[in-house]
Amino acid sequence: MLKSNVLRAHKLVESFKKISVAQASDQQETVELPQLLQDCVDLFKINARQAKLIITLDTTHLHGTGQWFGYPGHLTQVIMNLLQNAERYAYPNGQGGAVDMSVFDEGDQFGITVRDYGQGIPAENLNKIFEPFFTTGRNKGGTGLGMAIVSNIVTSLFKGHITVVSEPGKGCCLSLVFPKSVMANVGVGLPLKAGQML
Ligand SMILES: Nc1ncnc2c1ncn2[C@@H]1O[C@H](COP(=O)(O)OP(=O)(O)OP(=O)(O)O)[C@@H](O)[C@H]1O
Ligand SMILES: [Mg+2]
Repeated sequence: MLKSNVLRAHKLVESFKKISVAQASDQQETVELPQLLQDCVDLFKINARQAKLIITLDTTHLHGTGQWFGYPGHLTQVIMNLLQNAERYAYPNGQGGAVDMSVFDEGDQFGITVRDYGQGIPAENLNKIFEPFFTTGRNKGGTGLGMAIVSNIVTSLFKGHITVVSEPGKGCCLSLVFPKSVMANVGVGLPLKAGQML
């Protein structure tokens, strides 16, 4: 028990370090969202091949320019977390399956959806998945911090929203919606609220 707690603490510190490094180095800049998402798919390619995930990216619902004045490093972190969850939870037995990503725009907002067709999330867990430390994968090395961090990044840094829709046995769909341009928010520290994390 002591050993597993120490390991867990070590993992937490590692992930906090990763976020603060990303935070410090991630300047607000203009990026092409379709390119950034394609880069995420490419980065995930080795995992995807091992887990037999077929990842697609649909950019046909992007009508205006895909240019976002935002935080590319953080968005990459968000998408990688969602892909890792699809690998670990949607298709847990290595059977693999589809993960469909889509980017769209509406007015002055962008949207990104990441959809899988796997196990899904039971209704009673839907509002818990963004809580720090909620995980159904403790035995697979899950800390339950991934979605809490994702949600903090999307709401505090991107000034957007994240929602989840799921039907058990049919998969789930995570949607992010955020403004096309975030005003530089000088003085914003970690997107994580200390009280929430402990
Ligand atoms: N695509 C998905 N399909 C089914 N369940 C999911 C999916 N994504 C997340 N979940 C559920 O939400 C929980 C919380 O996810 P979260 O990413 O916060 O934690 P984790 O993946 O278990 O651990 P960590 O990300 O810290 O390694 C998961 O344990 C799982 O039960
Ligand atoms: Mg996770």
